[in-house]
Amino acid sequence: MSATPEQNPAEASIERRQFDTLIIGAGGGGLRAALKLAEADLSVAVVSKVFPTRSHTVAAQGGMNAALANVLPDNWHWHMFDTVKGSDYLGDQDAIEYMCRSAPKAVYELEHFGVPFSRLDNGKIYQRAFGGQSQDFGGDQAARTCAAADRTGHAILHSLYQQNIRAKTHFFDEYFAVDLLKGQDGHVLGAVVFDIHDGQIMVIEAKTTLLATGGAGQLFKTTTNALINTGDGMGMAMRAGIPLQDMEFFQFHPTGIAGRGMLITEGVRGEGGYLVNGQGERLMERYAPKAKDLASRDVVSRAIAIEIREGRGCGPNKDHVLLKLDHLGEEVIQKRLPGIRQTCITFLGIDPAEAPIPVFPTAHYTMGGIPTNRFGQVVVPVKDTPEEPVAGLYAAGECACVSVHGGNRLGGNSLLDILVFGRAAANHIIEYLQENKYHRALDEEQMKLVVEKAQQYNNTAGGSSSEKIETVAGLRKELKQVMEEHCGVFRNKEILEQGVVRVEQLVLRMKNVKIDDSSFTFNTAKVEAFELENLMAVAVATIHSAAAREESRGAHSRIDFPDRDDKAWMRHSLYSFDNGLDYKPVRTKPMSVASFPPKPRVY
Ligand code: FUM
Repeated sequence: MSATPEQNPAEASIERRQFDTLIIGAGGGGLRAALKLAEADLSVAVVSKVFPTRSHTVAAQGGMNAALANVLPDNWHWHMFDTVKGSDYLGDQDAIEYMCRSAPKAVYELEHFGVPFSRLDNGKIYQRAFGGQSQDFGGDQAARTCAAADRTGHAILHSLYQQNIRAKTHFFDEYFAVDLLKGQDGHVLGAVVFDIHDGQIMVIEAKTTLLATGGAGQLFKTTTNALINTGDGMGMAMRAGIPLQDMEFFQFHPTGIAGRGMLITEGVRGEGGYLVNGQGERLMERYAPKAKDLASRDVVSRAIAIEIREGRGCGPNKDHVLLKLDHLGEEVIQKRLPGIRQTCITFLGIDPAEAPIPVFPTAHYTMGGIPTNRFGQVVVPVKDTPEEPVAGLYAAGECACVSVHGGNRLGGNSLLDILVFGRAAANHIIEYLQENKYHRALDEEQMKLVVEKAQQYNNTAGGSSSEKIETVAGLRKELKQVMEEHCGVFRNKEILEQGVVRVEQLVLRMKNVKIDDSSFTFNTAKVEAFELENLMAVAVATIHSAAAREESRGAHSRIDFPDRDDKAWMRHSLYSFDNGLDYKPVRTKPMSVASFPPKPRVY
C-alpha cells in the first residue's frame, strides 16, 4: 500500500518488491548491465535518484577509446600499454587487458544500439587523438577516441535508455537508495529505497545487487561533476563494512572553465587546440616535449598549476591559462566541438572560434572506489586472501575500482570502463543466478535498522535551543572547501594532516544536522542530507588514504615525496570504517600477454 500525498510514510505499511537483480544507478554502467540482464529474461529493477537520461554519463564529451585503427594503425595491445603507463603502473593488468581487448566490440555494440557516432568520409567511425595515446605511429599520435561530436556520453546514454525500454527493464525513477540489505549469511540482498515524489519507503529484495552510482566529484568546490555525483554507492558500501580502494587518486581535468569548473573536453586538444601561458608560450613544450598538450591529464594539470604558481598565469590575477583553438576554424569547431562552443558562449560570453578559453584544473574523476575483480564482483580481504567476493554484490563504472585506471585515468577510458564492466558484471550475474535460483531470507533486524535510517530526517525541524544545529548546506560548503584546500593537485604532509583533522571534525558535526523541511513531497532537503552523509564517508577515505601514501604517483602528487616508490608503494590502499587503512598487491599479471613492468613515465 502506498502513502497518500502528505501522509507520513512511516505510518503506511512498507511495500516489498522482489527482483532477480537490483541495479542502483542509471548511467552507462547500470544501463549496459540492465540491458544484458533484461535480454536474458531476468527481472531487473533500476533505481535512479534522477530520471535515467539525466545521469552523469550524459555529460561525457570527448569520446570512448577503442583500437579500431580507423584513422591510424592501432591495436588493443598498444591501448593496453598506454593504459598501464597512464595508470602509473597501479592499474591491474588483467582487468586492463580485458577492457582493451573488449573495446572494439563494445563500440560496435553501441553502433548497433543506435549511437550516432561521427563519421569519417569513408563512413567509418570518427576517432580523435586524446591524452596519453602512444606516439609511435610513424611520428603520429594514435587516434583512438570514438566520438559523437563532443556529446558522446549524451548519445550513448539515450541509446541505452531506449534499448532498455524496449527490453522491458523496470525503472524506479527518482527513488533514493539509502542502504544495502543483507541476509544472516552475509549475502547482499537488495536495498531500502524511498520514492522522492512522496517519501514512501520500499524494500527491494534482490538475489543480486549492482552498484553503478558514479563518482564523487561533489567532494570538491570546483568540479566538472553534476550535483548528483555524491558517492552514494561508495557510502553505502562503506556502511556495509566494505573498504574503498585507492581513494587518494582523484583526477583533476586540466581544462575546466577557470573559476567555474565546467568541462572543456580534451577533444579540443585532440583536434589541435593548445594551452598558452601569460607570456604567450605554449607551456606544455616545457613539461612534455613529445606529447605536449596530449600528455596524460595528471601531467597537464600539474603543468598548469606550476605555471600559475611561478607567476606565468593569464588575466589580471594571473590565475588561469588560455586554451587556444580559434586557429582550427569555425567549420571544424562547429562540426567537432559544437557543445563546448555553446558552453563558452553561454557561460563566458566568449566564442572560442574567435578568442581563447580561460581554463584551470578542476576535479573530474574518482579513480578509486568499491574494489571489484574483472567480473564486477565486489571483493574484500578475508584473512590471507586479498580479494574474496562478497556474495550477491557487484559494482561497475566510476563507483567501482576494478582497477583499470590505477593512479591516473586516460581520457576516453571512462565511457569504455562503464560499458565493458557493466556488461561483464551482467554476464557474471547471469551465471550466478543459474546456481542461486531462489530469494534468500533477509536479516529482518538489519532491515529494520535500515528502514529507521531512511526515516532519520523525518520531523527534525526545531530541536532544543541548547542544541547546536548544523545545516546540510553549511557543512557541505565547508567540506568542499576543505577538500579543495587540503587534497588538491599538489599535496604535502602538513596540508594533508590538517585535512584529516578538519574532515574528522566535519564528520562529528554531521550528527547535529537537522532539516527544516518536514514535507514528504519532493523533499530534496532530505535527499541532500543523505547525499552529504555519503560524501563525508568518501571524504574520510580519501583524505586518510592520501595522507598515508608517501610517494608521488599519477594524480597523487606529494611535494615532500616527489618520486614514485615502487618498492614501498606499488600496492592498492583500502580504507574502511572498522579497520582504517590496509593495503593489497597490484594484479600485475595480465590474462594472456607479458606483463608491462614499471618504467619511468615520460611523455
Ligand atoms: O575531456 C573529456 O572529454 C573527458 C573525457 C573523459 O573524462 O574521459
